[in-house]
Amino acid sequence: MPPIIEARGLIKRYGKVRALDGLDLVAESGHVTALLGPNGAGKTTFVSAVATLLRPDAGALRVAGIDALAEPRRVRRVIGLAGQFASVEPAMTGRENLELVARLFGLDRRTARKAIAEVLDRLDLGEASDRLVRTYSGGLRRRLDLGASLVGRPQLLLLDEPTTGLDPRSRRELWDAIRDLVADGVDVLLTTQYLEEADQLARRVVIIDHGKVVDAGTPAELKDRAGRDVVEVRPRAAGDLPAAEEVLASVGTETPRTDLDTQRTWVGVDGGADTLTAAVQQLHQRGIALDDIGLRRPSLDEAFLALTGQPVASPDPDDDDPHTAKAADTTVLDDAVARQDTIGMLVAQIRRVRLRATRRRTDLVGQRLLSIRRRLLFAMPTTGE
Ligand SMILES: Nc1ncnc2c1ncn2[C@@H]1O[C@H](COP(=O)(O)OP(=O)(O)OP(=O)(O)O)[C@@H](O)[C@H]1O
Ligand SMILES: [Mg+2]
Repeated sequence: MPPIIEARGLIKRYGKVRALDGLDLVAESGHVTALLGPNGAGKTTFVSAVATLLRPDAGALRVAGIDALAEPRRVRRVIGLAGQFASVEPAMTGRENLELVARLFGLDRRTARKAIAEVLDRLDLGEASDRLVRTYSGGLRRRLDLGASLVGRPQLLLLDEPTTGLDPRSRRELWDAIRDLVADGVDVLLTTQYLEEADQLARRVVIIDHGKVVDAGTPAELKDRAGRDVVEVRPRAAGDLPAAEEVLASVGTETPRTDLDTQRTWVGVDGGADTLTAAVQQLHQRGIALDDIGLRRPSLDEAFLALTGQPVASPDPDDDDPHTAKAADTTVLDDAVARQDTIGMLVAQIRRVRLRATRRRTDLVGQRLLSIRRRLLFAMPTTGE
């Protein structure tokens, strides 16, 4: 069986930004692959490329063995996508939303009814299905959005930050739903900013940053790497940083990393306390005065920091971490892109339904489709009707 996703040297530029910068990624069939990375790492860009909503500037991309650049339509037939922002229609009930999607997929009435019943049952949405979506909680909306991506019975499900912003309980419920899908043979590529999510769901985790793969492995392997002790030094004089780095390089197991802003340099070590002692002696011999030196075990977050040079973004979008603030500038744009993603795919799949709808202007579904599409294309904020 070919890998479900095979990306080689993918490049996507937005002006000077390289959202994908030679990304290589192979995801095998049969389990969840998690794409982990901070804001702006290129996660959504990659998912959009796999979903054929965006054409890379260079590189090769195969999805389920199909050349995604040459045959995007065939790829769309085997994938389902739940974008970074739930794109469900608030003025319709859950069931109506699923019916809309089923129509967009061109399912006949009987098949649609069956598929919708399956989805409602699978995602435990039965009770809520006849309520307007605008009354749904965030978790329920996400679940419905996931449901919408399942109506077409995809072989590969793309989930872009499926649980960002959800409370722990809703997050767990969604995880269970995703596990069930995988048990039933659906391949899943999910993006996340949460190590725990990757740990819970994925057999393989690919860490990306600045459009490139930084590290990859099973959660256990990444944890092992994370488990390594770290010696960290803050010299009193910033001018001593290079010398301190040299010392750490001689005791560590990797190239030391340095943060100029906080004047710290640190390195992963194997020898624990003995290595710390050796570092202290050498720093002393070289006459480097210290503000701080310590041995610590990195948390998973710190392991991520060590790999990407920046923290996993805070789950709270309102916090004023500069990285998140930078991302906030592009929120409107991202939102538009994400919204167009989901709907764009549906629309592309089903031009013929639209044609039918245009012929029968009273067709409610068709009108909804056109209004949703128009709204999405112009990136207006969601409003009830
Ligand atoms: N349509 C666009 N126009 C211009 N720049 C873009 C566009 N889409 C993405 N970018 C830029 O490309 C980079 C990667 O963005 P992308 O949305 O793929 O990141 P991400 O990993 O999904 O981030 P987040 O966690 O915030 O969703 C960022 O620097 C982003 O600002
Ligand atoms: Mg994103």
